[in-house]
Amino acid sequence: MDIEVGEELNRDLFGKDFKWGVSTAAYQIEGAHDADGKGSSIWDIYTERKKKILNGHHGKIACDFYNRYKEDISLLKDLNIPNLRLSTSWSRIMPSGTGPINHKGIDFYNRIIDTSLENGIEPWLTLYHWDLPHALEQKGGWTNRDIISWFAEYTEICAKHFGDRVKHWMVMNEPMVFTGAGYFLGVHAPGRTGANNFLPAVHHTVLSISEGGRILKDLLPAAEIGTTFSCSFIQPYTNRPKDVNAANRIDALLNRMFIEPILGMGYPENDLSFLKKISKYMRPGDEDKMAFDFDFIGVQNYTREIVKNSYLTPYVQASLVKAKDRGVPYTSMGWEVYPESIYEMIRKFNEYKNIKKIYITENGAAFPDHLIDGKVNDTQRTKYIQENLKQVLRARNEGMSAEGYFVWTLTDNFEWSEGYHPRFGLVHVDFETQQRTIKSSGHWYSDFLSGQNDQTKSDLNLEKSNLISSNASRS
Ligand code: BGC
Repeated sequence: MDIEVGEELNRDLFGKDFKWGVSTAAYQIEGAHDADGKGSSIWDIYTERKKKILNGHHGKIACDFYNRYKEDISLLKDLNIPNLRLSTSWSRIMPSGTGPINHKGIDFYNRIIDTSLENGIEPWLTLYHWDLPHALEQKGGWTNRDIISWFAEYTEICAKHFGDRVKHWMVMNEPMVFTGAGYFLGVHAPGRTGANNFLPAVHHTVLSISEGGRILKDLLPAAEIGTTFSCSFIQPYTNRPKDVNAANRIDALLNRMFIEPILGMGYPENDLSFLKKISKYMRPGDEDKMAFDFDFIGVQNYTREIVKNSYLTPYVQASLVKAKDRGVPYTSMGWEVYPESIYEMIRKFNEYKNIKKIYITENGAAFPDHLIDGKVNDTQRTKYIQENLKQVLRARNEGMSAEGYFVWTLTDNFEWSEGYHPRFGLVHVDFETQQRTIKSSGHWYSDFLSGQNDQTKSDLNLEKSNLISSNASRS
């Protein structure tokens, strides 16, 4: 769909209760990896392993948010961004994962929460954004069923210390990514591989998500409790039954494997028979324990995937056809730019009748940014966000739930196995000096949020002409 840049997009169209924000995650921004009693997380350990992370990058310093949080929160205020999604680092709060609390860690998150609120910014907390305490990984991490009680202990501590001020909670971030990349493919921490790690990790994660939801709801009945999922719009490479079936299997794996048991529907094993092996890790009563009625679900979408049958790929017999091999536009992550994907995912999640409410808790893009004369003119990112927002609006106008939108992310940061190379921020970071520079996308978001649409319109028309000329010079 070709949507004109600069036209019809206006904050008011989303309604006054729509939540606008940015999303961040502890390990990607905080740095201060061993400050003030913090324990090691699996990412502190994994990034030290040779050749695991592009260019040997790590999160020891990252954006130094631990020391610069005041500056970054006042940047949010300057940008008119009213909601900040962030995660707590489990090993900063409980260095060994269970047992003694590190009060300096609690103090740090109290400072962030208080500073945000003083600046009129609502903090949204995610309890787990992939940085498991290393001490727990040494006991088997997510493959050990005891993790359900370790996670419950940590959840309770966070609820008790932060629940008086934090009104929006997310139990976990993208379970499919951290179990798939971390326990099956071995390309994320802790670097485990194979079905014998992946399947128990999946099951214990599902049980921990629902248990975390129950604990938060019990302790904080007035708070809004959710959890977030990654998802991609999946389409078959051809209409041949083999490709269509392959696409269904990948859809079950990437989009349905976590949400469906949580909604009380069980694992989608009829569409992905390999999931039948999870029964080995099930105990009596688990079917019920897996389900929890969340107040909201965070949908996180970046792209679509085209899938074809592949006999050579174990377990799923399917492979992804890369965007660059399809001749379509893609980001620095190699992900296709396909805004309709977010609409399709909102629709898919709206079709589950037990989901009460949906927020888009992440969406954004990495492009090669250039800091020139103190400016980053990232028109591609602005356009990406605008076109995705138009799809969110389209879903809302058709009566679907999509009650908020959080850009990934505020500042450029540590992009997991890709290190610092892909830049997703609305704000550029010079990682040598920690200098922040608001990109043109950040200025656009700020103007959009403050309702300065006339200004926006003329800026965008200018950007549009830049885009046209850069496209013309490429062809
Ligand atoms: C994750 C973020 C990540 C972003 C871009 C999401 O999968 O929640 O941590 O940086 O996507 O890859």
